[in-house]
Amino acid sequence: MHTDSRDRRRKMLRLLVVSGVAAAIVSIQLILPSLLFVVLPRWPFSAANKQPPKCVVFNFGDSNSDTGNLAAGAGVRLHRPLGRRFFGKPSGRYSDGRLYIDFICESLELDHLSPYLESSGVSFRHGANFAVAGATTGGAAEGTPFSLATQVRQFRHFRRRTASLHRRGLGSGIAMLEFHNAVYTFDIGQNDLQAAFTAGLSYHRVLDTIPAIVTRINNAVTMVHEAGGRKFLLYNTGPLGCLPSMLARWSRRGGGGEVDGAGCLVELNGAARAFNEQLGRLCGELRGKLANATVVCVDMYAIKYGLVANHTAHGFSEPLMACCGGGGPPYNYRAGEACGSPKVKACADGDRRISWDGLHYTEAANRVVAEDILSAEYSDPPLQLQTLCASTS
Ligand SMILES: *[C@@H]1O[C@H](CO)[C@@H](O)[C@H](O)[C@H]1NC(C)=O
Ligand SMILES: *[C@@H]1O[C@H](CO)[C@@H](O)[C@H](O)[C@H]1NC(C)=O
Repeated sequence: MHTDSRDRRRKMLRLLVVSGVAAAIVSIQLILPSLLFVVLPRWPFSAANKQPPKCVVFNFGDSNSDTGNLAAGAGVRLHRPLGRRFFGKPSGRYSDGRLYIDFICESLELDHLSPYLESSGVSFRHGANFAVAGATTGGAAEGTPFSLATQVRQFRHFRRRTASLHRRGLGSGIAMLEFHNAVYTFDIGQNDLQAAFTAGLSYHRVLDTIPAIVTRINNAVTMVHEAGGRKFLLYNTGPLGCLPSMLARWSRRGGGGEVDGAGCLVELNGAARAFNEQLGRLCGELRGKLANATVVCVDMYAIKYGLVANHTAHGFSEPLMACCGGGGPPYNYRAGEACGSPKVKACADGDRRISWDGLHYTEAANRVVAEDILSAEYSDPPLQLQTLCASTS
């Protein structure tokens, strides 16, 4: 007992010393740049000393990267336990916490991207998010008011308005050169494929819809290029057939559908891969077609499929079961019992789960996805976002 408390006191003392040293180091680091700042302007070469270019990101997509546009734009109210893991309340994101795009912004030292449609409490100094939950690329499957084409029109509106307000010192504060140097990210296509399958199209009919989806993405990127964008990052689509919502739906149909070694639906993942193959080809074409542009393609499918197939290595369990939902194992997903509806419960171990609500990922999974994106190991060319952001085109 006695030695215990002495031990504890000694530990406490050591902690105090360590934190004192840490504080000293931090304050030196804080002071040093200001000292340099005082010295540098008198240095003969410092006239050319410019601020590093600000990293600015504009994002287009669906619920995988919607930070609140559907909630703001359609007045949809989300309910607890959404947001329980990070924001402490629903934040407009379809998750228990942050999305992969939030982790990317944090890593690039940017504010979380504000939803373009949000009317208050927003900051657009580091860019804007146009992604809307439920969005498709458009076309016949158009079911939401904010398809990809609309999102790009919204971006052009935002850019025009920023330009006209800038002269009066108002608006987002993003300079035209910063629009030029911004990174434009696209994460869309999942809802197009999902809509085709849930409409009852056969596998081969679904494959037939893919070229038009890819063409619409081509048009969107081209429009942003025409508006002056030069850096593009295209995410391909994740393994649709590994989503608990799809698995539950298919298991209720007679037969259930063929599954692979990881337990994912073969046809749905086959369509996702077919889409990704064509998107990959588009990436190559865009590099040739768009003058002075950098086009990076990220293999989101490999990242997310790897998460499911290798879930144990990542510290996850039950990769095909929703944390928040109804119906119980194996998928815990039932259409009438969506996460956020009254009485629908969420699992206690959300940090060990990949699927939050059967359709969207948990914050824990999103964190791994972001790390994989930032590593550039899944990028073609393997250009890190940090580098892409900082480069001047
Ligand atoms: C591409 O870059 C070159 C060299 O900087 C420039 O002269 C040309 O106008 C640019 N083209 C476009 C379409 O931006
Ligand atoms: C799972 O992890 C192993 C070892 O890191 C790797 O070789 C394999 O490609 C991974 N599987 C998937 C589907 O990512």
